[in-house]
Amino acid sequence: MSRTPVNVTVTGAAGQIGYALLFRIASGHLLGPDVPVKLNLLEIPQAVKAAEGTAMELVDSAFPLLAGIDIHDNPKDGFNGANVALLVGARPRTAGMERGDLLEANGGIFKPQGEAINAHAADDIKVLVVGNPANTNALIAAAHAPDVPKSRFTAMTRLDHNRALGQLALKTGAPVADITNLTIWGNHSATQYPDVFHAKIAGKNAAEVVNDQEWIEKTFIPTVAKRGAAIIEARGFSSAASAANAALDHMYTWVNGTAEGDWTSMGVVSNGAYGVAEGLVSSFPVTTKGGEWSIVEGLEIDEFSRGRIDASVKELSEERDAVKQLGLI
Ligand code: NAD
Ligand code: LMR
Repeated sequence: MSRTPVNVTVTGAAGQIGYALLFRIASGHLLGPDVPVKLNLLEIPQAVKAAEGTAMELVDSAFPLLAGIDIHDNPKDGFNGANVALLVGARPRTAGMERGDLLEANGGIFKPQGEAINAHAADDIKVLVVGNPANTNALIAAAHAPDVPKSRFTAMTRLDHNRALGQLALKTGAPVADITNLTIWGNHSATQYPDVFHAKIAGKNAAEVVNDQEWIEKTFIPTVAKRGAAIIEARGFSSAASAANAALDHMYTWVNGTAEGDWTSMGVVSNGAYGVAEGLVSSFPVTTKGGEWSIVEGLEIDEFSRGRIDASVKELSEERDAVKQLGLI
């Protein structure tokens, strides 16, 4: 294998998502089966020992694509030369909390990380923020990296996207692979809007295939939007393997492209499309090609969808105001 390894930084490497993520990155599920990777694990000092244990297991797995592992306890070294950064490290919510409750606890992590990415990452850096509240944390990190194009900072709504695919497949009996053009709009929170009206099942309009508006409004949308809380309630911990899987899907799609005619959902910096205030990190229908994303423009938005999108975007504006108040942007 002659290719230069891609430098991948993972923060929160000793956490539960980290444990579900690292082995799959090292086996080619992040960038592709022929792309060697060098891992940089960033943790807080108290968790470095646990990260070392995970690194030992990575060595013991003898992954042919894994070109090396380094562990760091400071962002400057952790992001040095990074081509891809997965910002997972942050506190998860526990039962009874909304993701917005984490703003103050976690927002402070993303300012120094944005600064370190600005100063030390590679020119082609691509950032995915997983740590909650993911959209606003991505906004904070991007605000502190003025030399990096804002388009390189994204937030994860692919887990919501995959959850929506799963629920639609269960309802209709269609294979997941037959469902395309699904969109998560807005925030990765209970206000998000999973949109089936533009989605297709085996090429037919998904809402028409489902043919059950009550199910869409009263079951599908709340099930997807509140799935994170349901997992916490059932497992006692927030989602980990499905979150790691979605992070891999997000980055793989960003780097390798969306299928012809289909799109995915990504939290990206708004250019004002669909009335979403410019600068907010909101989820949109997005196509990717050659390592760049673009928002799918021109979809017709009916009154029902408009109300849902606006409600989630309003929450994003409020989160932006809150982090301004906290001096984080
Ligand atoms: P966890 O508590 O198991 O692990 C978090 C890890 O982050 C810990 O090892 C901790 O030491 C580390 N950490 C804390 N501050 C850090 C910092 N400044 N730098 C580097 N590392 C740091 O949590 P988890 O279950 O792995 O979840 C991580 C985050 O991902 C949470 O905020 C959770 O809410 C979020 N999450 C997001 C999604 C999504 O869809 N966007 C899905 C699931 C979880
Ligand atoms: C999820 O959606 O599972 C995560 O964001 C964790 C949470 O707090 O819901």
